[in-house]
Amino acid sequence: MFQSLKSLPADPILGLMASYRADNNPKKIDLGIGVYKNENGDTPIMTSVKKAEDLILHSQTSKSYVGPTGAADYNATVGELLLGKSLMDSLGKRRVTVQSPGGCGGLRLAAEFIKSANPNATVWVSDPTWANHVPLLASAGLKIESYPYYDYASHSVRFDEMIDCLAKLGRGDVVLLHGCCHNPCGADLSQPQWQRIRDLALECGFTVFIDLAYQGLGDGLEEDVYGVRLLAESLPELIVVSSCSKNFGLYRERTGATTVICDSEAVATVATTQIAAAARTMYSMPPDHGAAIVQLILSDADLRKEWDTELTEMRNRINGLRAQFVSKIQTMGISEDFSFIEREKGMFSFLGVNVDQVQSLVNDYSIYLVNSSRINVAGINNQNIEYLVSSLATVLKT
Ligand code: LMR
Repeated sequence: MFQSLKSLPADPILGLMASYRADNNPKKIDLGIGVYKNENGDTPIMTSVKKAEDLILHSQTSKSYVGPTGAADYNATVGELLLGKSLMDSLGKRRVTVQSPGGCGGLRLAAEFIKSANPNATVWVSDPTWANHVPLLASAGLKIESYPYYDYASHSVRFDEMIDCLAKLGRGDVVLLHGCCHNPCGADLSQPQWQRIRDLALECGFTVFIDLAYQGLGDGLEEDVYGVRLLAESLPELIVVSSCSKNFGLYRERTGATTVICDSEAVATVATTQIAAAARTMYSMPPDHGAAIVQLILSDADLRKEWDTELTEMRNRINGLRAQFVSKIQTMGISEDFSFIEREKGMFSFLGVNVDQVQSLVNDYSIYLVNSSRINVAGINNQNIEYLVSSLATVLKT
């Protein structure tokens, strides 16, 4: 039976990670997968996370099952990180948060939930969007369409075209937005643009679904959820998938959550049963370790303060690197305008070079980036910036 299987290409982002690891060039630079890196190019465990792990190791008394919806205290705590205390209180039992195996698991859970609510639903993703959004959501059997989002020429959001497209949608359409730090382009919606989308959702009746994988890595923990909170307080229904991979550095611990806001408590109670059943049939229940760390950090004043400081350092480093990269490009005589990189948010921006130029950077210079020219800004450091910019300068001339 197995002989009939066809080999599949590597995932565009994870395949790049494997190629980078296998490359022996001492000058290699990893601008591929979205993991935070410090000045030494390492992705260390955050000190607050290490301390929480240590406490858990010494205090945990059982490894018994948690349950398909995960730990109730974690769900309440990450719900509050997302929505804030007063909104949590006012939403009451209309809000359900379910622990998930990372952001991907949360997205898949949300996809199953959408499918059970409306098997004919269409999910509208931004053009472009994260490389795994379409495969992940489509594999749950959902129809996928895209709306205009990023203008490669002006490096800004094609907001008028986006609105023209969304204005034609209605019930049964689900619009997937990036909560902050758009992956892959780094161009985020402004506050007035979020307000316009809120108005349109109310007018047209489409459902909003937000992927929030980078809270705290754009402008700040509160600033980055402006859109999420605005929509949560105004819309009858909302889906938000949040991830602790980046802001807690818990990548391999698979720690995330799916939050659903329903128009009544009764519907939310039913929704919880649907999400729990989806979890049970796919993976039974989420892994506990990462969630226990997050729960402990967010509920302990000292650990929370320490985590906040570490996250702020990460954010400031990324924003500083954006400015440093643009300035290096200018001082090394590249005439093309890359100043947009300084305006964009989070880990990613497009370099805006073509596929041949990307391939040359990868194959001739061991500088790893996705074919779309997306770079992870956090992969830049003082040791590699000169080599990066001089290689870019050479490739731009080809
Ligand atoms: C990325 O976009 O590089 C990250 O979200 C990691 C991943 O799983 O693709």
